[in-house]
Amino acid sequence: MRQSAAPILSARALCVDFKLEQGWVRAVDSVSFDVRRGEVLGIVGESGSGKSQILMAAMGLTAANGRCSGSVTFEGEEVLNAAPERLDRIRGSSMSMIFQDPMTSLNPYMRVVDQLTEVLVAHQGKSRAEAIDIAVEMLDRVRIPDARRRISLYPHEFSGGMRQRVMIAMALLCRPALLFADEPTTALDVTVQAQILDLLNGLVRELNAAVVIVTHDLGVIARLCDRVIVLYGGRIMEEAPIEQLFGAPHHPYSQGLLAATPRLDDDTAHDLRTIPGTPRALAGQASGCPFAPRCERRMERCMAETPLLRGEHGRTAACHLVAG
Ligand SMILES: Nc1ncnc2c1ncn2[C@@H]1O[C@H](COP(=O)(O)OP(=O)(O)OP(=O)(O)O)[C@@H](O)[C@H]1O
Ligand code: SF4
Ligand SMILES: [Mg+2]
Repeated sequence: MRQSAAPILSARALCVDFKLEQGWVRAVDSVSFDVRRGEVLGIVGESGSGKSQILMAAMGLTAANGRCSGSVTFEGEEVLNAAPERLDRIRGSSMSMIFQDPMTSLNPYMRVVDQLTEVLVAHQGKSRAEAIDIAVEMLDRVRIPDARRRISLYPHEFSGGMRQRVMIAMALLCRPALLFADEPTTALDVTVQAQILDLLNGLVRELNAAVVIVTHDLGVIARLCDRVIVLYGGRIMEEAPIEQLFGAPHHPYSQGLLAATPRLDDDTAHDLRTIPGTPRALAGQASGCPFAPRCERRMERCMAETPLLRGEHGRTAACHLVAG
């Protein structure tokens, strides 16, 4: 792994709020992190914890009833709330995204060949013939058998796992410096999931890309990531290198998650909803620890005082029990 010193992506105090009938609610609450080239950062958290909205904000895809504040820089330049033309250019050339459902990014009415070559012709000035050669090579690399023939098919003519591979190929075609992946394998069965994660891992390491992957599955995190952020109710509860999180989680929420994941190389999916209680409702800025209603180690102080993220060198936790 070759990591460069300067982060390619930096989020600082990123907040995402949505306007509902009853007022504004906060989905992402003051989230800060860095990712460098050659590094895979995982964001793990249960449904509704704000994982996807972090990626959407960084990609400039927040829904119309949402607003973002704070800062997100890509290669040192601010991209949060940037002009659509600028974001289009970055998304086409240096940043790409893999969605949970391949049909979010594949057009069902266009042959795969046209979808794959479009970006190469439009953003990289390749001829159609050159673009087809590059696309076939990428389909080969994501192990689509008989790629030169199959590239002429429509998306629905591929199986679910194969379609996911097509989407990974599409996301990696322009050799992005930064890749976002949102639950890229959740819809697939465990064996195909493992194959695709290993494939993705190999390709991004080879490209020396930076990756931010969000998932509710700790098995995916264990397989792919160097570092992980544990998100709860839109806030970072803990950040740690993967071995440290799996070896000795500091935050009670992470400890609860990990209790269901005894081994780093365990392939089974781990559902985060094994922790008693229900996820935090999206509400305004209540004081106190967001995890307090579900925490077995809750103290009086936890209800009144919001714990700050403390620690250093990428090893932080937000809990009154954890010394800074
Ligand atoms: N357009 C919107 N308007 C209002 N609330 C929204 C909107 N989009 C997302 N939210 C809310 O923001 C919160 C965070 O959503 P997000 O999609 O980031 O969760 P997630 O962690 O990705 O969950 P999942 O694992 O289910 O994908 C959720 O409570 C969601 O309902
Ligand atoms: S601050 Fe208190 S309630 Fe929150 S995780 Fe720590 S011990 Fe539990
Ligand atoms: Mg999501």
